[in-house]
Amino acid sequence: MSDSAFSLREFTRQLPKAELHLHIEGTLEPDLIFKLAQRNHITLPYPDQASLHAAYQFTDLQSFLDLYYAGAGVLITEQDFFDMTWAYFLRAQADGIVHAEIMFDPQTHTARGVAMETVFAGLARAARQAKSELGISSYFILSFLRHLSEADAFATLEAALPLREQYADLWIAIGLDSSEKGNPPAKFEKIYARCRELEFRLVAHAGEEGPASYVRDALQLLKVERIDHGVRSQDDPALMQYLIDHAISLTVCPLSNIKLKVFDSLDEHNLKHLLDRGLNVCVNSDDPAYFGGYLLDNYMQTAQALNLQASDLRTLAANSLRSSFLPKAQQQAWLNKLENVPSND
Ligand code: HPA
Ligand code: ZN
Repeated sequence: MSDSAFSLREFTRQLPKAELHLHIEGTLEPDLIFKLAQRNHITLPYPDQASLHAAYQFTDLQSFLDLYYAGAGVLITEQDFFDMTWAYFLRAQADGIVHAEIMFDPQTHTARGVAMETVFAGLARAARQAKSELGISSYFILSFLRHLSEADAFATLEAALPLREQYADLWIAIGLDSSEKGNPPAKFEKIYARCRELEFRLVAHAGEEGPASYVRDALQLLKVERIDHGVRSQDDPALMQYLIDHAISLTVCPLSNIKLKVFDSLDEHNLKHLLDRGLNVCVNSDDPAYFGGYLLDNYMQTAQALNLQASDLRTLAANSLRSSFLPKAQQQAWLNKLENVPSND
């Protein structure tokens, strides 16, 4: 690694950053999958970690989701959910993340007989420990699986609501993930209206594999504040202008987009174009155990491929803080620290 590459990485590491698009089940590394499988007496269809890892050759979103849901099948106990989440926070600390907004997919677990309480308890114990021991704050985004029905989403919300008070410091938002094509935002209009009445913050995946019209519908029908991915917005000039005018945040995940073939290669990614057009974009890792890099790797590999400068990286990090659900005063405190990180240029 050259000196300048090293110093740009160290500069980026030092920037206070928020990670806003992270599926906690997507942080399960092969070694932890094997450890939990053994602990829970589950037989995996792979003889060892290397052969599991070798299967991470995705052709599209669905080919990834099939493995991702299978991997999550080793999570049974509160300790399992804690171990997965704590491992993420340690990596987040190493990358200079100061705040994380973490998606989780309860339906993946409750469908296997895991209690909603078990999921919440394990995630929350890790999040509270991360706050006190690592100084990293976090919120949870309970995400509905869009390949399932809206009725299933309502049942999931009903199962989770009794826990709201106990986890009010963490569970503040609702998301929508899984197979995008054929599952448009309109399918979830009623549940989003209900979650809005309940005063949850709202986000949704849109415009990853699905068309730009899904981004528009997520904003107009679901009334989300932030779009996860959204890179396909570029296909619709009027939508692009709307995103600029309203400073809508897009939580972009460059390495994910390459692994799932949304773009052919990182140097063809449109992040720099979106940034230069004045869109409120930030960088995130999505499912880092599957896509080959945590947050800092996403920043650095993208910087290399798109020739991002220190000023671009600072803007991306600032966008992540401003687009978070942290109170404005806390955002500003981190932004002040961010402005004081020295760069070489
Ligand atoms: N897209 C949709 N659903 C997901 C993803 C993603 O990138 N990761 C985990 N669930
Ligand atoms: Zn995602």
